[in-house]
Amino acid sequence: MLWSSLTALALLAPNAHALLRFSCSQLVVERLDPLVNPGMKQSPHVHQIIGGNSFNITMDPNVAPSDLATCTTCTFSEDFSNYWTAVMYFKAKNGTFKRVPQKGNQGFEQSNGGMTVYYTPTISNSKAAKVTAFKKGFRMIVGNPVYRTEAQAKQFRQLTYTCLQTASTRTGETLNFPQKPCPAGIMVNVRFPTCWDGKNLDSPDHMSHMSYPASGTFESGGPCPSTHPVPVPQLFYETVFDTTKFKNDWPTDGSQPFVWSFGDGTGYGNHGDYVFGWKGDSLQKAMDANCNINCPQLKTQSIAQGNKCAQQMKVNEDIDGWLTELPGGMPVTYK
Ligand SMILES: *[C@@H]1O[C@H](CO)[C@@H](O)[C@H](O)[C@H]1NC(C)=O
Ligand SMILES: *[C@@H]1O[C@H](CO)[C@@H](O)[C@H](O)[C@H]1NC(C)=O
Repeated sequence: MLWSSLTALALLAPNAHALLRFSCSQLVVERLDPLVNPGMKQSPHVHQIIGGNSFNITMDPNVAPSDLATCTTCTFSEDFSNYWTAVMYFKAKNGTFKRVPQKGNQGFEQSNGGMTVYYTPTISNSKAAKVTAFKKGFRMIVGNPVYRTEAQAKQFRQLTYTCLQTASTRTGETLNFPQKPCPAGIMVNVRFPTCWDGKNLDSPDHMSHMSYPASGTFESGGPCPSTHPVPVPQLFYETVFDTTKFKNDWPTDGSQPFVWSFGDGTGYGNHGDYVFGWKGDSLQKAMDANCNINCPQLKTQSIAQGNKCAQQMKVNEDIDGWLTELPGGMPVTYK
């Protein structure tokens, strides 16, 4: 796809299309969601979370995560943000569920998978981009867990799946779960909108303070609409689910066996959550410096150090056995 070929170009020509790309190990996998269900112990479905260890049942937007956290799972060690998605389960022929393990992206050997995170200022031209970094208290969500159709999923422009033929496959993105076994696993791609209203750090639906470009896409250099005039970096998560150990247990009726922890059997409900938590203006500095992959303006730690910053589950429940139902009792639906 266009995005992938442009990224390949960026890797070849480091100064042309700068982007921050880094890995964060797993912080915790549990049923918490301080954005959609603040104060609720437990949230309806299971998430996998990376980033600062101030992740909690409730997270006050007036308190900077960097003031509370004592470590982060991200390799840029001033990044105490939290990034999360749902988790994938395998549904066996006998109706039981097993959580699909995650694995590190190519070159990133984080414990338990974690995610790869990108902040891309622009890929539309070779000039240094001027973008406004997210600020203290900023939060957003992209995607909708109740969506079950392609038409619905198309309302979001870049929430996709890559059926990995090898660890480096970056083409053939789909809006629904891959329909055939993927030899090297399934990569889930979550790209957030890139235009901000410039005023609200959050909104009741956690989405309407953000917008896609008025025409075209971020990838094609589309301009921001007048309602959301401020270009922000494109936040992008890659999560690799290691589906390979289930390849001999696929259904024989032509269906595919994976479901999201929120009960989506189609994949169209793919979504991701973000709570900003970079220390001070470190993210803005990195954007202004047009850093590409590595960033001397930022402090870094090793993946091994990031791996050490894990949290305990706040409520113990079995999310990893062969389960007779999804945690929280989420029913699986296909339409
Ligand atoms: C989470 O919030 C509780 C209640 O406010 C607090 O006692 C606890 O220290 C917090 N944990 C973390 C890791 O911030
Ligand atoms: C259901 O199927 C899975 C996968 O084949 C197996 O590991 C599990 O033991 C089975 N559970 C029951 C209750 O038969």
